[in-house]
Amino acid sequence: MKIELAERVKKLPPYIFAELEKIIAEKKKQGIDLVSLSIGDPDLPPPPFVLDELKRESSDPKNHNYSLSQGQPIFKQAIAEWYRKRFGVELNPESEVIALIGSKEGIANVTRAFVNPGDHVLVPDPAYPVYAVGGTLLSEGIPVSMPLLAENGFKPDLEAICEREAKMMFLNYPNNPTSAVIDKSFLEEVVEFADENNIIVCYDNAYSEVTFDGYTAPSILEVQGAKDVAVEFNSCSKTFNMTGDRIAFAVGNSQVISGLVKVKSQIDSGPPGYIEKVAAKALRTYTNDGKPPEYVKKVNREYAERRDVLVDGLNSLGFKCEKPLATFYVWVKCEGDSMKFASKLLDAGVVVTPGVGFGKYGEGYIRFSITQPKERIAEAVERLSKIL
Ligand SMILES: Cc1ncc(COP(=O)(O)O)c(C=O)c1O
Repeated sequence: MKIELAERVKKLPPYIFAELEKIIAEKKKQGIDLVSLSIGDPDLPPPPFVLDELKRESSDPKNHNYSLSQGQPIFKQAIAEWYRKRFGVELNPESEVIALIGSKEGIANVTRAFVNPGDHVLVPDPAYPVYAVGGTLLSEGIPVSMPLLAENGFKPDLEAICEREAKMMFLNYPNNPTSAVIDKSFLEEVVEFADENNIIVCYDNAYSEVTFDGYTAPSILEVQGAKDVAVEFNSCSKTFNMTGDRIAFAVGNSQVISGLVKVKSQIDSGPPGYIEKVAAKALRTYTNDGKPPEYVKKVNREYAERRDVLVDGLNSLGFKCEKPLATFYVWVKCEGDSMKFASKLLDAGVVVTPGVGFGKYGEGYIRFSITQPKERIAEAVERLSKIL
């Protein structure tokens, strides 16, 4: 039997990191020690109370039935409370909140719910690849790049966007991979632009809690009128180091949320009930005036120290990078072809992600991920000093 992929799957771009992964696997097989600063998966554990609660809730047989595809009321209520405390945003937990099995699936499914074949979707470039690929291309839409350039603070130039007929726009701050941050005034411009042009804004705020040096990330929903045009994605993955637990949420415009519920109810049955209960408790550890619990502060202090070791080390080697105010990424300008540059670092035993993997405008950059202890980051800098 001849088995053929669907046309839309055939159109997916090749996985750019495959070649690099082959080399990494080969080096590991040879017993070569690599300092891996490439993946966006935290090495730090979830808070101890999350682990205890997971044990407790998962041992209750009642928590093993199908859960609701839009999420359990207890979790949706906790999300609404968190938005009130953290951002001063009021949400109706029934119509403006949905639980997700990770924000990745939410991003892919919101596109399925609203994008018709041939519709244009504005996506940042460089960016988390799911906006253009798992979201837009798998919905047979057409991704239209919004370049994120250093001279614009890695924000899209909204006035330069010619594509005003787009159905949807993705934005993500604090940003992966550039680690750029924005203030509320930029979000006000976005809401105005989307309203004028009838574009749904999908704002990815997955790194809102990974911030340093006094920076606090806003929610797009803080902007007046944002609920008319926007939904926001957030997740327990990075805030509580629960990437493998697959627990996240989307909030905002009730029509967009109900479209997402419609798609998801045909595809999945919501996150496991016990994980929703634990995630609700984790969100409730924020103080009434929206301050994070000690656990989140401690993790951020650790990231800030790692960032300092890396950035100071890279600058001493002649790179010119600034200390990011958020995320666990450091986006660094490199000489020429980012794939070749990353291979050169790999030969020295340091794994980084070539910028071109995040889009054409990522070329000329590499991304370091500070998801390793300080000593290993210092070791990476030491290795680079020998070849650069
Ligand atoms: C910008 C961005 N959005 C979303 C996600 C996905 O997060 P989740 O674990 O909630 O699916 C990631 C994961 O790396 C990310 O970098």
